Amino acid sequence: MATSFTFFISQISLIITLTCIVLFSSFVYTKTTTHPFKNIYAFGDSYTDTGNTRSNTGPSGFMFVSNLPYGRTFFHHPTNRYSDGRLVIDFVAQALSLPFLPPYLDQKADKSSGVNFAVAGSTAIIHSFFARNNMTLNITPQSLQTQLNWFNKFLESKGCKESIATAARECEAVFNDALIWVGEIGVNDYAYSIGSSVPHKTIQQFAINSVTGFLEALLKKGATYVVVQGLPPTGCLTLSMYISPPDDRDDMGCAGSVNKLLSTHNTLLKAKINLLRKRFPEATIIYADYYNAYAKVMENPKKYGFKELHKTCCGYGGGPYNFDYFNACGSPNSKSCADPSEYVNWDGVHLTEAMYKAVAGMFLNETYCQPRFTYLLSKKQKSG
Ligand SMILES: *[C@@H]1O[C@H](CO)[C@@H](O)[C@H](O)[C@H]1NC(C)=O
Ligand SMILES: *[C@@H]1O[C@H](CO)[C@@H](O)[C@H](O)[C@H]1NC(C)=O
Repeated sequence: MATSFTFFISQISLIITLTCIVLFSSFVYTKTTTHPFKNIYAFGDSYTDTGNTRSNTGPSGFMFVSNLPYGRTFFHHPTNRYSDGRLVIDFVAQALSLPFLPPYLDQKADKSSGVNFAVAGSTAIIHSFFARNNMTLNITPQSLQTQLNWFNKFLESKGCKESIATAARECEAVFNDALIWVGEIGVNDYAYSIGSSVPHKTIQQFAINSVTGFLEALLKKGATYVVVQGLPPTGCLTLSMYISPPDDRDDMGCAGSVNKLLSTHNTLLKAKINLLRKRFPEATIIYADYYNAYAKVMENPKKYGFKELHKTCCGYGGGPYNFDYFNACGSPNSKSCADPSEYVNWDGVHLTEAMYKAVAGMFLNETYCQPRFTYLLSKKQKSG
Protein backbone atom coordinates (compact mmCIF):
# COMPACT_ATOMS: atom_id res chain seq x y z
CA MET A 1 0.00 0.00 0.00
CA ALA A 2 2.69 2.43 1.10
CA THR A 3 4.89 1.65 -1.90
CA SER A 4 2.09 2.08 -4.34
CA PHE A 5 1.24 5.37 -2.62
CA THR A 6 4.86 6.54 -2.99
CA PHE A 7 4.77 5.38 -6.57
CA PHE A 8 1.58 7.35 -7.06
CA ILE A 9 3.16 10.49 -5.56
CA SER A 10 6.24 10.16 -7.72
CA GLN A 11 4.00 9.71 -10.77
CA ILE A 12 2.24 12.95 -9.88
CA SER A 13 5.48 14.81 -9.39
CA LEU A 14 6.70 13.43 -12.70
CA ILE A 15 3.54 14.67 -14.36
CA ILE A 16 3.93 18.06 -12.70
CA THR A 17 7.56 18.26 -13.81
CA LEU A 18 6.65 17.33 -17.36
CA THR A 19 3.81 19.81 -17.37
CA CYS A 20 6.21 22.50 -16.18
CA ILE A 21 8.67 21.66 -18.92
CA VAL A 22 5.92 21.75 -21.53
CA LEU A 23 4.51 25.00 -20.13
CA PHE A 24 7.94 26.54 -19.85
CA SER A 25 8.95 25.62 -23.37
CA SER A 26 5.65 26.88 -24.76
CA PHE A 27 6.24 30.08 -22.79
CA VAL A 28 9.69 30.43 -24.36
CA TYR A 29 8.16 29.73 -27.75
CA THR A 30 5.51 32.38 -27.15
CA LYS A 31 8.15 34.87 -26.16
CA THR A 32 10.33 34.35 -29.18
CA THR A 33 7.88 33.79 -32.02
CA THR A 34 7.10 36.85 -34.11
CA HIS A 35 5.12 34.94 -36.69
CA PRO A 36 1.71 34.19 -35.17
CA PHE A 37 -0.10 34.81 -38.46
CA LYS A 38 0.92 33.53 -41.88
CA ASN A 39 -1.47 35.74 -43.84
CA ILE A 40 -3.34 39.02 -43.72
CA TYR A 41 -6.42 39.77 -45.78
CA ALA A 42 -7.30 43.46 -45.75
CA PHE A 43 -10.32 45.45 -46.85
CA GLY A 44 -11.22 49.15 -46.85
CA ASP A 45 -10.74 52.36 -48.85
CA SER A 46 -7.83 54.68 -49.68
CA TYR A 47 -6.66 54.61 -46.05
CA THR A 48 -5.86 50.93 -46.53
CA ASP A 49 -5.40 50.53 -50.32
CA THR A 50 -1.82 49.56 -51.23
CA GLY A 51 -2.30 49.87 -54.98
CA ASN A 52 -5.65 48.65 -56.30
CA THR A 53 -6.17 52.08 -57.88
CA ARG A 54 -3.91 54.37 -59.87
CA SER A 55 -4.05 58.00 -60.95
CA ASN A 56 -6.64 57.36 -63.64
CA THR A 57 -8.81 54.83 -61.78
CA GLY A 58 -8.96 56.29 -58.26
CA PRO A 59 -11.13 59.09 -56.82
CA SER A 60 -11.19 62.04 -59.22
CA GLY A 61 -10.10 64.54 -56.57
CA PHE A 62 -6.74 62.76 -56.17
CA MET A 63 -5.68 61.95 -59.68
CA PHE A 64 -1.94 62.09 -59.16
CA VAL A 65 -1.37 59.19 -56.78
CA SER A 66 0.93 57.48 -59.28
CA ASN A 67 3.27 60.52 -59.22
CA LEU A 68 5.86 61.69 -56.77
CA PRO A 69 5.74 63.11 -54.13
CA TYR A 70 3.37 60.24 -53.25
CA GLY A 71 5.66 57.63 -51.71
CA ARG A 72 8.59 60.02 -51.21
CA THR A 73 9.29 59.26 -47.53
CA PHE A 74 9.59 55.49 -47.30
CA PHE A 75 9.44 53.83 -50.71
CA HIS A 76 11.11 56.81 -52.46
CA HIS A 77 8.84 56.27 -55.46
CA PRO A 78 5.05 56.24 -55.92
CA THR A 79 3.39 52.92 -55.02
CA ASN A 80 -0.21 54.07 -55.52
CA ARG A 81 -0.59 54.45 -51.76
CA TYR A 82 -2.37 57.70 -50.84
CA SER A 83 0.41 58.93 -48.56
CA ASP A 84 4.07 59.88 -48.51
CA GLY A 85 4.90 56.41 -47.15
CA ARG A 86 3.45 53.50 -45.24
CA LEU A 87 -0.17 53.09 -44.19
CA VAL A 88 -1.55 51.56 -40.97
CA ILE A 89 -1.85 48.16 -42.70
CA ASP A 90 1.86 48.35 -43.64
CA PHE A 91 2.83 48.85 -39.99
CA VAL A 92 0.58 45.94 -39.05
CA ALA A 93 2.31 43.71 -41.63
CA GLN A 94 5.73 44.77 -40.34
CA ALA A 95 4.73 44.15 -36.72
CA LEU A 96 3.74 40.59 -37.70
CA SER A 97 6.99 40.09 -39.67
CA LEU A 98 5.05 39.72 -42.90
CA PRO A 99 5.73 41.35 -46.27
CA PHE A 100 3.74 44.41 -47.35
CA LEU A 101 0.38 43.30 -48.72
CA PRO A 102 0.10 43.21 -52.51
CA PRO A 103 -3.01 44.70 -54.09
CA TYR A 104 -5.50 42.09 -55.31
CA LEU A 105 -5.52 43.53 -58.83
CA ASP A 106 -1.76 43.04 -59.26
CA GLN A 107 -1.88 39.74 -61.11
CA LYS A 108 1.86 39.11 -60.89
CA ALA A 109 2.24 39.71 -57.16
CA ASP A 110 3.20 36.96 -54.73
CA LYS A 111 0.01 36.48 -52.71
CA SER A 112 1.26 33.72 -50.42
CA SER A 113 1.34 35.99 -47.34
CA GLY A 114 -1.89 37.81 -47.93
CA VAL A 115 -3.84 40.09 -50.19
CA ASN A 116 -5.16 43.61 -49.95
CA PHE A 117 -8.68 44.05 -51.35
CA ALA A 118 -9.07 47.70 -50.23
CA VAL A 119 -9.91 50.19 -52.97
CA ALA A 120 -9.51 53.95 -52.82
CA GLY A 121 -12.87 55.67 -53.09
CA SER A 122 -14.72 52.52 -52.07
CA THR A 123 -18.01 52.86 -50.25
CA ALA A 124 -19.61 50.57 -47.69
CA ILE A 125 -22.98 50.80 -49.47
CA ILE A 126 -23.27 49.17 -52.91
CA HIS A 127 -22.53 51.49 -55.84
CA SER A 128 -25.95 51.23 -57.49
CA PHE A 129 -27.47 53.02 -54.48
CA PHE A 130 -25.39 56.13 -55.23
CA ALA A 131 -26.10 55.92 -58.96
CA ARG A 132 -29.84 55.62 -58.30
CA ASN A 133 -29.72 58.75 -56.16
CA ASN A 134 -27.64 60.75 -58.62
CA MET A 135 -24.58 60.83 -56.35
CA THR A 136 -22.05 60.00 -59.01
CA LEU A 137 -19.55 62.80 -58.55
CA ASN A 138 -16.06 61.59 -57.65
CA ILE A 139 -17.25 58.05 -57.38
CA THR A 140 -15.30 54.88 -57.92
CA PRO A 141 -17.68 52.02 -58.62
CA GLN A 142 -16.25 49.66 -56.00
CA SER A 143 -17.88 48.95 -52.66
CA LEU A 144 -17.42 46.41 -49.87
CA GLN A 145 -19.53 44.08 -52.02
CA THR A 146 -16.90 44.27 -54.80
CA GLN A 147 -14.20 43.45 -52.27
CA LEU A 148 -16.22 40.50 -51.00
CA ASN A 149 -16.65 39.22 -54.56
CA TRP A 150 -12.88 39.48 -55.10
CA PHE A 151 -12.24 37.66 -51.84
CA ASN A 152 -14.66 34.89 -52.85
CA LYS A 153 -12.77 34.42 -56.11
CA PHE A 154 -9.52 34.28 -54.18
CA LEU A 155 -10.97 31.71 -51.76
CA GLU A 156 -12.18 29.58 -54.66
CA SER A 157 -8.64 29.52 -56.03
CA LYS A 158 -7.67 27.98 -52.66
CA GLY A 159 -10.38 25.32 -52.94
CA CYS A 160 -12.62 27.07 -50.41
CA LYS A 161 -15.91 27.18 -52.26
CA GLU A 162 -19.23 27.60 -50.49
CA SER A 163 -21.23 25.28 -52.75
CA ILE A 164 -18.91 22.32 -52.13
CA ALA A 165 -19.55 20.54 -48.84
CA THR A 166 -16.09 18.97 -48.78
CA ALA A 167 -14.41 22.38 -48.99
CA ALA A 168 -14.63 22.91 -45.22
CA ARG A 169 -11.04 21.78 -44.69
CA GLU A 170 -9.71 24.11 -47.39
CA CYS A 171 -11.61 27.03 -45.87
CA GLU A 172 -10.29 26.18 -42.43
CA ALA A 173 -6.76 26.15 -43.84
CA VAL A 174 -7.25 29.67 -45.18
CA PHE A 175 -8.71 31.15 -42.01
CA ASN A 176 -6.73 29.34 -39.28
CA ASP A 177 -3.58 31.37 -39.85
CA ALA A 178 -5.13 34.52 -41.23
CA LEU A 179 -5.64 37.92 -39.73
CA ILE A 180 -8.64 39.65 -41.29
CA TRP A 181 -8.13 43.42 -41.21
CA VAL A 182 -11.19 45.50 -42.04
CA GLY A 183 -9.87 49.02 -42.49
CA GLU A 184 -11.94 52.11 -42.02
CA ILE A 185 -14.86 52.05 -44.49
CA GLY A 186 -17.84 54.41 -44.73
CA VAL A 187 -16.39 57.91 -44.80
CA ASN A 188 -16.81 58.00 -48.58
CA ASP A 189 -20.49 57.14 -48.22
CA TYR A 190 -21.01 60.27 -46.15
CA ALA A 191 -18.75 62.38 -48.38
CA TYR A 192 -20.57 61.42 -51.59
CA SER A 193 -23.97 62.19 -50.09
CA ILE A 194 -23.09 65.81 -49.27
CA GLY A 195 -25.49 68.04 -51.19
CA SER A 196 -27.85 65.20 -52.07
CA SER A 197 -31.43 64.84 -50.92
CA VAL A 198 -30.66 61.58 -49.09
CA PRO A 199 -30.60 62.25 -45.33
CA HIS A 200 -27.43 61.41 -43.34
CA LYS A 201 -29.48 59.07 -41.16
CA THR A 202 -30.30 56.96 -44.23
CA ILE A 203 -26.64 56.80 -45.27
CA GLN A 204 -25.74 55.88 -41.70
CA GLN A 205 -28.26 53.07 -41.48
CA PHE A 206 -27.38 51.64 -44.91
CA ALA A 207 -23.62 51.93 -44.34
CA ILE A 208 -23.79 50.19 -40.95
CA ASN A 209 -25.94 47.44 -42.44
CA SER A 210 -23.47 46.97 -45.31
CA VAL A 211 -20.49 46.66 -42.96
CA THR A 212 -22.38 44.32 -40.64
CA GLY A 213 -23.51 42.14 -43.57
CA PHE A 214 -19.95 42.03 -44.86
CA LEU A 215 -18.56 40.98 -41.46
CA GLU A 216 -21.26 38.36 -41.11
CA ALA A 217 -20.34 36.92 -44.52
CA LEU A 218 -16.66 36.67 -43.49
CA LEU A 219 -17.50 35.09 -40.13
CA LYS A 220 -19.80 32.55 -41.76
CA LYS A 221 -16.97 31.53 -44.07
CA GLY A 222 -14.85 30.90 -40.99
CA ALA A 223 -12.94 34.10 -40.26
CA THR A 224 -11.51 33.62 -36.76
CA TYR A 225 -9.24 36.62 -36.07
CA VAL A 226 -10.84 39.85 -37.14
CA VAL A 227 -9.91 43.49 -36.56
CA VAL A 228 -12.50 46.12 -37.49
CA GLN A 229 -11.41 49.73 -37.64
CA GLY A 230 -13.95 52.38 -36.74
CA LEU A 231 -14.13 55.68 -38.63
CA PRO A 232 -11.58 58.43 -37.99
CA PRO A 233 -12.82 61.97 -37.21
CA THR A 234 -12.72 63.15 -40.83
CA GLY A 235 -14.03 66.54 -39.69
CA CYS A 236 -10.34 67.12 -38.83
CA LEU A 237 -9.16 66.61 -42.43
CA THR A 238 -8.00 69.65 -44.37
CA LEU A 239 -10.82 69.28 -46.91
CA SER A 240 -13.51 69.26 -44.18
CA MET A 241 -12.00 72.31 -42.50
CA TYR A 242 -11.78 74.05 -45.89
CA ILE A 243 -15.42 73.52 -46.86
CA SER A 244 -17.16 73.77 -43.47
CA PRO A 245 -18.33 77.06 -41.94
CA PRO A 246 -15.70 78.44 -39.50
CA ASP A 247 -18.21 78.36 -36.63
CA ASP A 248 -18.78 74.62 -37.08
CA ARG A 249 -16.00 73.50 -34.73
CA ASP A 250 -15.78 70.88 -31.97
CA ASP A 251 -13.43 70.77 -29.00
CA MET A 252 -10.65 69.40 -31.21
CA GLY A 253 -11.04 72.50 -33.40
CA CYS A 254 -12.40 70.34 -36.24
CA ALA A 255 -15.57 70.41 -38.34
CA GLY A 256 -17.97 69.43 -35.56
CA SER A 257 -21.05 68.33 -37.49
CA VAL A 258 -19.04 65.80 -39.53
CA ASN A 259 -17.31 64.42 -36.46
CA LYS A 260 -20.56 64.08 -34.58
CA LEU A 261 -22.02 62.03 -37.40
CA LEU A 262 -18.99 59.73 -37.55
CA SER A 263 -18.87 59.35 -33.80
CA THR A 264 -22.51 58.18 -33.82
CA HIS A 265 -21.63 55.80 -36.67
CA ASN A 266 -18.91 54.27 -34.51
CA THR A 267 -21.26 53.83 -31.55
CA LEU A 268 -23.73 51.96 -33.78
CA LEU A 269 -20.93 49.89 -35.34
CA LYS A 270 -19.64 48.85 -31.91
CA ALA A 271 -23.13 47.69 -30.92
CA LYS A 272 -23.32 45.55 -34.08
CA ILE A 273 -19.88 44.10 -33.36
CA ASN A 274 -21.09 43.13 -29.89
CA LEU A 275 -23.98 41.22 -31.42
CA LEU A 276 -21.62 39.46 -33.85
CA ARG A 277 -19.37 38.45 -30.93
CA LYS A 278 -22.35 36.69 -29.36
CA ARG A 279 -23.34 34.99 -32.61
CA PHE A 280 -19.81 33.87 -33.46
CA PRO A 281 -18.21 33.07 -30.09
CA GLU A 282 -15.43 31.03 -31.70
CA ALA A 283 -14.13 34.15 -33.46
CA THR A 284 -12.12 36.95 -31.86
CA ILE A 285 -13.41 40.31 -33.08
CA ILE A 286 -11.43 43.40 -32.19
CA TYR A 287 -12.63 46.99 -32.55
CA ALA A 288 -9.83 49.41 -33.47
CA ASP A 289 -10.78 52.85 -32.21
CA TYR A 290 -9.50 55.11 -35.00
CA TYR A 291 -11.55 58.05 -33.76
CA ASN A 292 -10.00 58.25 -30.32
CA ALA A 293 -6.51 57.40 -31.54
CA TYR A 294 -6.74 60.37 -33.90
CA ALA A 295 -8.20 62.52 -31.13
CA LYS A 296 -5.28 61.62 -28.85
CA VAL A 297 -2.86 63.03 -31.42
CA MET A 298 -4.94 66.21 -31.75
CA GLU A 299 -4.83 66.65 -27.96
CA ASN A 300 -1.10 66.23 -27.69
CA PRO A 301 0.50 66.71 -31.12
CA LYS A 302 3.96 67.54 -29.74
CA LYS A 303 4.26 64.09 -28.19
CA TYR A 304 4.10 62.67 -31.72
CA GLY A 305 6.28 65.32 -33.33
CA PHE A 306 3.49 67.15 -35.17
CA LYS A 307 3.47 70.91 -35.79
CA GLU A 308 0.68 71.14 -38.39
CA LEU A 309 -2.70 69.57 -37.63
CA HIS A 310 -4.89 70.91 -40.42
CA LYS A 311 -2.55 72.18 -43.13
CA THR A 312 -1.54 69.82 -45.95
CA CYS A 313 2.08 68.93 -46.47
CA CYS A 314 1.42 68.40 -50.16
CA GLY A 315 -0.84 70.91 -51.88
CA TYR A 316 -1.07 74.38 -53.30
CA GLY A 317 -1.95 77.89 -52.24
CA GLY A 318 -0.38 78.24 -48.78
CA GLY A 319 -2.47 79.80 -46.02
CA PRO A 320 -3.85 77.83 -43.07
CA TYR A 321 -4.80 74.83 -45.23
CA ASN A 322 -2.49 74.85 -48.29
CA PHE A 323 -5.27 73.17 -50.21
CA ASP A 324 -6.67 73.75 -53.68
CA TYR A 325 -8.95 71.15 -55.24
CA PHE A 326 -7.76 72.08 -58.76
CA ASN A 327 -4.08 71.87 -57.89
CA ALA A 328 -4.08 68.65 -55.90
CA CYS A 329 -1.01 66.93 -54.51
CA GLY A 330 1.11 65.51 -57.34
CA SER A 331 -0.22 67.95 -59.96
CA PRO A 332 2.29 70.23 -61.72
CA ASN A 333 1.62 73.30 -59.54
CA SER A 334 1.61 71.49 -56.20
CA LYS A 335 4.54 71.25 -53.81
CA SER A 336 5.27 69.17 -50.76
CA CYS A 337 6.70 70.38 -47.48
CA ALA A 338 10.26 69.96 -46.24
CA ASP A 339 9.41 67.54 -43.42
CA PRO A 340 6.20 65.48 -43.79
CA SER A 341 6.65 64.02 -40.30
CA GLU A 342 5.62 67.39 -38.85
CA TYR A 343 2.25 67.19 -40.64
CA VAL A 344 -0.80 65.09 -39.80
CA ASN A 345 -2.35 65.69 -43.21
CA TRP A 346 -0.69 64.73 -46.47
CA ASP A 347 -2.89 65.82 -49.40
CA GLY A 348 -6.08 67.25 -47.93
CA VAL A 349 -7.88 63.96 -47.27
CA HIS A 350 -5.19 61.36 -46.62
CA LEU A 351 -2.68 61.24 -43.79
CA THR A 352 1.09 61.27 -43.64
CA GLU A 353 3.12 58.17 -42.88
CA ALA A 354 3.95 59.78 -39.52
CA MET A 355 0.26 59.96 -38.63
CA TYR A 356 -0.44 56.41 -39.83
CA LYS A 357 2.50 55.26 -37.74
CA ALA A 358 1.23 57.04 -34.63
CA VAL A 359 -2.21 55.47 -35.08
CA ALA A 360 -0.78 52.01 -35.81
CA GLY A 361 1.33 52.25 -32.65
CA MET A 362 -1.78 53.01 -30.61
CA PHE A 363 -3.61 50.03 -32.16
CA LEU A 364 -0.77 47.56 -31.78
CA ASN A 365 0.91 48.67 -28.58
CA GLU A 366 -1.70 50.57 -26.58
CA THR A 367 -5.34 50.20 -25.61
CA TYR A 368 -6.95 51.56 -28.78
CA CYS A 369 -7.78 48.03 -29.91
CA GLN A 370 -10.61 46.62 -27.81
CA PRO A 371 -9.78 44.03 -26.62
CA ARG A 372 -6.06 44.68 -27.03
CA PHE A 373 -4.13 43.49 -30.06
CA THR A 374 -1.91 41.40 -27.77
CA TYR A 375 -5.06 39.53 -26.69
CA LEU A 376 -5.65 38.57 -30.32
CA LEU A 377 -2.04 37.41 -30.64
CA SER A 378 -2.28 35.29 -27.51
CA LYS A 379 -5.54 33.72 -28.72
CA LYS A 380 -3.80 32.82 -31.96
CA GLN A 381 -0.75 31.44 -30.19
CA LYS A 382 -2.83 29.30 -27.87
CA SER A 383 -4.65 27.72 -30.79
CA GLY A 384 -1.30 26.98 -32.50
C1 LIG B 1 -31.80 61.87 -60.83
O1 LIG B 1 -31.66 62.67 -61.99
C2 LIG B 1 -32.65 62.44 -62.99
C3 LIG B 1 -32.29 63.26 -64.23
O2 LIG B 1 -31.90 64.55 -63.89
C4 LIG B 1 -34.03 62.79 -62.42
O3 LIG B 1 -35.04 62.53 -63.38
C5 LIG B 1 -34.27 61.93 -61.17
O4 LIG B 1 -35.49 62.30 -60.55
C6 LIG B 1 -33.13 62.09 -60.16
N1 LIG B 1 -33.32 61.15 -59.08
C7 LIG B 1 -33.23 61.49 -57.79
C8 LIG B 1 -33.44 60.39 -56.79
O5 LIG B 1 -32.96 62.62 -57.41
C1 LIG C 1 5.26 49.03 -30.98
O1 LIG C 1 6.20 48.78 -29.95
C2 LIG C 1 7.38 48.13 -30.43
C3 LIG C 1 8.20 47.73 -29.22
O2 LIG C 1 8.38 48.83 -28.37
C4 LIG C 1 8.12 49.07 -31.37
O3 LIG C 1 9.29 48.48 -31.86
C5 LIG C 1 7.19 49.38 -32.55
O4 LIG C 1 7.80 50.34 -33.41
C6 LIG C 1 5.85 49.91 -32.07
N1 LIG C 1 4.96 49.95 -33.22
C7 LIG C 1 4.55 51.09 -33.75
C8 LIG C 1 3.76 50.97 -35.01
O5 LIG C 1 4.75 52.18 -33.25
